[in-house]
Amino acid sequence: MKHFINLKDIPASDLRKIIEDAKIRKIKRKKLNKLDKDKDNPLKGKLLIQMFEKPSSRTRLSFYLAIKQLGGGTINIKVNELHLGKGGESLEDTAKILSTYGDGFMLRTDSDKKIEDFSKYLTIPIINGLSPSSHPTQVLSDIFTVEEIKKKNISKLNICWIGDSNNVLNSLIAASIKFSFNLNIGCPKNYKPKKFVMDWIETNKGKINIFNDAKKAAKNADVIFSDKVISLNDKVDKTKKIKDFKSFKINSKLMSYAKKDATFLHCLPRGSEVSEDIFLGKKSKVWLQALNRVHVQKSILLYCFGKLR
Ligand code: CP
Ligand code: NVA
Repeated sequence: MKHFINLKDIPASDLRKIIEDAKIRKIKRKKLNKLDKDKDNPLKGKLLIQMFEKPSSRTRLSFYLAIKQLGGGTINIKVNELHLGKGGESLEDTAKILSTYGDGFMLRTDSDKKIEDFSKYLTIPIINGLSPSSHPTQVLSDIFTVEEIKKKNISKLNICWIGDSNNVLNSLIAASIKFSFNLNIGCPKNYKPKKFVMDWIETNKGKINIFNDAKKAAKNADVIFSDKVISLNDKVDKTKKIKDFKSFKINSKLMSYAKKDATFLHCLPRGSEVSEDIFLGKKSKVWLQALNRVHVQKSILLYCFGKLR
């Protein structure tokens, strides 16, 4: 049994194995319907419990399809439906109960500590479905999408992030270290990653660069990533933050600094950080990116359940 909490704590060889498994599984089920099971039915009879303390469209639905295609099922619970939410039951006892009824637990939460605490008491794997510090299932899936589009190992590509230093970027930085790819980050001066993330960058100098100028960050990029300037439950002066990011909007002018065949990716939901023509244009592969969450999360589930080939 393995947890899937932060990319930085998972061996690079395991992350690579997950991606390779997802590639094979995706090809094999080309002609199948969404709810058809993979032929080997590897998680037959298994139950994934999902709990969302924040909204989710993609993570919720893609995990539903992922476990279904592997032969299992899922149930969604809300924290306010549990005794835990109202303070009537400890996290430790809740973890034991989840482990009694379920085979895996996917949690989206506003508390990294809650994920850590659950991981101590659960006897089933926990998957981080987005926390304040990371969004590992999203980013591993994005690595898969980049390699699928570019038909190259990501270590041969220039990856660029224009936007806020948030959970998704933290996971992208961890991925840059694990998969050894160049990562140029473009963000306003006062919005660089937090100290603990800057420390990882420091220990992996050279491949990760931060620019306070979006054009410099975008130069020669194969892929430009972005995300909402205002994240879920971001407790900031929103008007000021959006203003501070004004010159970091991804539009055709900014895209022109990247390579001619550059791709635009965004985990969604979007805000005003990208222009409509880029988001809906030819370079954008955001719908494929969302779809691939299903394929990669299947292999993440197999990894957690000890069934990865
Ligand atoms: N990208 C992503 O995680 O989307 P949701 O918030 O809809 O799950
Ligand atoms: N950074 C965003 C990602 C949403 C999928 C957030 O945390 O809201």
